Amino acid sequence: MSTQLSPILTKFWDHPQSWTLKTYEANEGYAALKKALGMSQQEIVAMTKDSGLRGRGGAGFPTGMKWGFLPPPDGGPRYLVVNADESEPGTCKDTPLMMAAPHFLIEGMIITSYAIGCNHAFIYIRGEIVHVYRRLMRAVEEAYAAGHLGKDIHGTGFDLDITVHAGAGAYICGEETALLDSLEGRRGQPRLKPPFPAVAGLYARPTVVNNVESIASVPPILLHGSEWFKDMGTEKSTGFGIFSLSGHVNRPGQFEAPLGITLRELLEMAGGMRGGKKLKFWTPGGSSTPLFTDEHLDVPLDFESVGAAGSMLGTRALQIFDETTCVVRAVERWTDFYKHESCGKCTPCREGTWWLSQILERLEHGQGSEADVDKLLDICDNILGRSFCALGDGATSPITSSVQYFREEYLEHLRLGHCPFDRDASSYFASDKESASA
Ligand SMILES: Cc1cc2nc3c(=O)[nH]c(=O)nc-3n(C[C@H](O)[C@H](O)[C@H](O)COP(=O)(O)O)c2cc1C
Ligand code: SF4
Repeated sequence: MSTQLSPILTKFWDHPQSWTLKTYEANEGYAALKKALGMSQQEIVAMTKDSGLRGRGGAGFPTGMKWGFLPPPDGGPRYLVVNADESEPGTCKDTPLMMAAPHFLIEGMIITSYAIGCNHAFIYIRGEIVHVYRRLMRAVEEAYAAGHLGKDIHGTGFDLDITVHAGAGAYICGEETALLDSLEGRRGQPRLKPPFPAVAGLYARPTVVNNVESIASVPPILLHGSEWFKDMGTEKSTGFGIFSLSGHVNRPGQFEAPLGITLRELLEMAGGMRGGKKLKFWTPGGSSTPLFTDEHLDVPLDFESVGAAGSMLGTRALQIFDETTCVVRAVERWTDFYKHESCGKCTPCREGTWWLSQILERLEHGQGSEADVDKLLDICDNILGRSFCALGDGATSPITSSVQYFREEYLEHLRLGHCPFDRDASSYFASDKESASA
């Protein structure tokens, strides 16, 4: 565990022109590519495996192992698809990374493509963030002009094109197989697995789908070595990651630190709780991960420790809520999001998220009965593990964990016949008030 930040991907974000090729090159940019092109494909995969890098998109699957799942080359195309859909409430790391330092991703894509034998790679980016889309397109142009992309890259005989594709803004298109359907021009809905993308992915060809931060972490690993990476983090959750603190903290933002850092340490670096208020609850990895409370301030933020404490590290989206926040209201808002984003393919999620949303709305207004609280849990039980994809499972996390820690607060709504929280005094509603007066 460490109290130090480890600025690597975020190292020069405060440079006035941080996104240009020139700035990237002044900060060791494309040195890893040069090294990689002198290595064999197997050596690169082995080094990535040895580093212990685990997917930064949420599930934490070992990156090098995923690349190793591709079947042997058969002469046909193989693809790398970067998942830049980033739509989970609270998750805000890939977007600032692509905005501030897009060449980390592009260099990582070139190295990964070379390692897996891919000649056409894609970035699937969330469509609403047009400014980031433009920035990526410009960075790709710069990389072509510098000879890092295109035909016969640096005289090695290796060809690579990158296509940046803007989605239409759907959370489900972050699920890797829905993403592939969307990229192929279909409606974005998850595919039945197996076959997994490694065997039959984009256009039914072997495909690696990785998160932006996973691929952006590849150049520093290649350049400095797997031991350097393993020196950070914990034994099974190696390296560094971007932690996004949002909500009721004095200095919200991205904090790049070794995995295993605690919220207590991060909060201190973020200037503490806003207005000196008390921490009430927080998400360790976005709204799809079970809530934590102030009891969990010292849980090391690595995959194993967060799991053992009853939640998931997910995308390290630390949404912080103070004591003035109504947990029922917060959970109701998240559930509305899942209801809206449910793709409708399977019944437990399509129907269940609507029922959950209706019951939560009743409870938040102090209507209904205690049986409704148990009904929430019963519906969650019928969604969790019975849905076609992880969106349904994720929708249950804030509900079951909030009832686990704050059942009394649900009942207080019923006793009073209204929400016990004073909206005027609540920090949670401050943003509503600000946008209403704007
Ligand atoms: C509803 C849903 C949304 C997801 N959204 C994203 C996303 O925006 N970005 C992402 O990298 N992974 C997302 N994932 C996880 C991907 O399916 C996949 O595991 C990930 O892209 C793999 O990359 P990694 O191994 O580098 O983490 C989502 C999963 C689900 C179920
Ligand atoms: S769980 Fe929800 S999002 Fe996933 S396939 Fe079923 S309906 Fe679609």
